[in-house]
Amino acid sequence: MSFLSNLGWRFATKKFDTDRKLTDESVGQILDSIRMAPTSFGLQSFHVSVVSDEDVKRKLSAASFGQPQPSDASHVLVFSSRTDIRDRVDSYVKIATGDDTGSSEQAVKMAGMFHQFADRFDGDTGREWAARQAYIALGFALAAAAELEIDSCAMEGADFVAIRDVLDLPEGFTPVVMLPLGYRADGPAHPKARFPTEDLFTEIR
Ligand SMILES: Cc1cc2nc3c(=O)[nH]c(=O)nc-3n(C[C@H](O)[C@H](O)[C@H](O)COP(=O)(O)O)c2cc1C
Repeated sequence: MSFLSNLGWRFATKKFDTDRKLTDESVGQILDSIRMAPTSFGLQSFHVSVVSDEDVKRKLSAASFGQPQPSDASHVLVFSSRTDIRDRVDSYVKIATGDDTGSSEQAVKMAGMFHQFADRFDGDTGREWAARQAYIALGFALAAAAELEIDSCAMEGADFVAIRDVLDLPEGFTPVVMLPLGYRADGPAHPKARFPTEDLFTEIR
């Protein structure tokens, strides 16, 4: 299938086949798509919890106002934004320059530029910026799953404060959206509903 026909094949799966599980290889491929997704300054300011534990999946459903997708799916990816941007900059510079000490001229220059950028992202602004990066990764995971003919349902209809406790996430990690993955038990209940192109796009030639 081509990318565009994959997008026609996928739909927000409400009912997963509880007997079918993803292979480790498939999970790894979807995680690779997340890892390779572009992010602002390459800082990948998010973390993904990869949940296949039945009890934890049930708790995710309970925290999603009883929506069954998390407990029925094979795996649930929970995307969290992270606000440790300063530490992230220092770690990233070491990875990007290959300089473990971060003391080379190139590393110091890069760190200076990135920290200047990070000045703009304190508190809520930083959390929102980080969440936007997580959503880019979510988009890549949605597309990769479709490519592998794995069903999914992005979900933000949940109490993410409760989900933070369920996952026992560290300080500064805020779950924002999740992605149950598995195989459909039923087809879509409705045909795709999309606004027409003239509503979504304006050509300025
Ligand atoms: C960020 C995001 C959050 C969503 N949250 C939920 C949700 O909590 N529960 C649900 O059943 N579907 C949820 N959806 C699925 C959308 O309703 C669905 O993608 C949209 O109606 C388009 O339908 P399609 O994905 O089948 O093409 C969400 C989708 C996205 C992208």
